[in-house]
Amino acid sequence: MFTALLIIVVGVTKILATDYILLIEDPDLYTPCAEGPPGSMTFNDAFDVSAAKISMDPEGIHVTGNITSMWSLPRTDRISIRLTVLKYNRGSWEPTLFNMVTRDFCASMFDPNQVWFKHWFQYFKNRDEIQEKCIATKGTVLVYNKFDVIPHLYNVMGPNLNGRYKAVFLFEAFDEKNVKRDTSVCFEVTGEVEKVRK
Ligand SMILES: *[C@@H]1O[C@H](CO)[C@@H](O)[C@H](O)[C@H]1NC(C)=O
Repeated sequence: MFTALLIIVVGVTKILATDYILLIEDPDLYTPCAEGPPGSMTFNDAFDVSAAKISMDPEGIHVTGNITSMWSLPRTDRISIRLTVLKYNRGSWEPTLFNMVTRDFCASMFDPNQVWFKHWFQYFKNRDEIQEKCIATKGTVLVYNKFDVIPHLYNVMGPNLNGRYKAVFLFEAFDEKNVKRDTSVCFEVTGEVEKVRK
């Protein structure tokens, strides 16, 4: 059962622009990773979301409230984020071309050119504090401006988006010697993508 309907506008090219809708499967938007790295935390393990509210309806995703970090790392750690998009095909999740790694998330979370900023971090009010502490300083409060989001996909390659997809988000941490820590945070968003006739 799909609980929400989201419009994704995808500009494949200027000549051939295609609109898609994404039907998100989970009412909470994200779920724990089915195959996260050993010892990885879920989003709700790492962040207290009890003061945040997410709802979805045909107009989009509506988010308000605060998220408080419970992840506790030295601020000198480097945090990377990896986005992997998988497509469901004949009973299993297969890789796609949509993958992305941001090596230093804290350095780029407020970079207006970055996808993280465009779709997520631009909606936080207390940018100075978040920039100073980043996301893995215990007790940091990320204060949302109330926002409604209709996700857009950019730079779509390949002719067809159709079927069931999931986006897996993995935060990993590296200490000052660039050694990967055991701790990581993994969550995923799953939905059905359908083409819309204009
Ligand atoms: C979010 O945090 C801000 C700043 O700490 C506070 O003023 C506000 O009341 C909080 N909102 C909620 C819903 O907890």
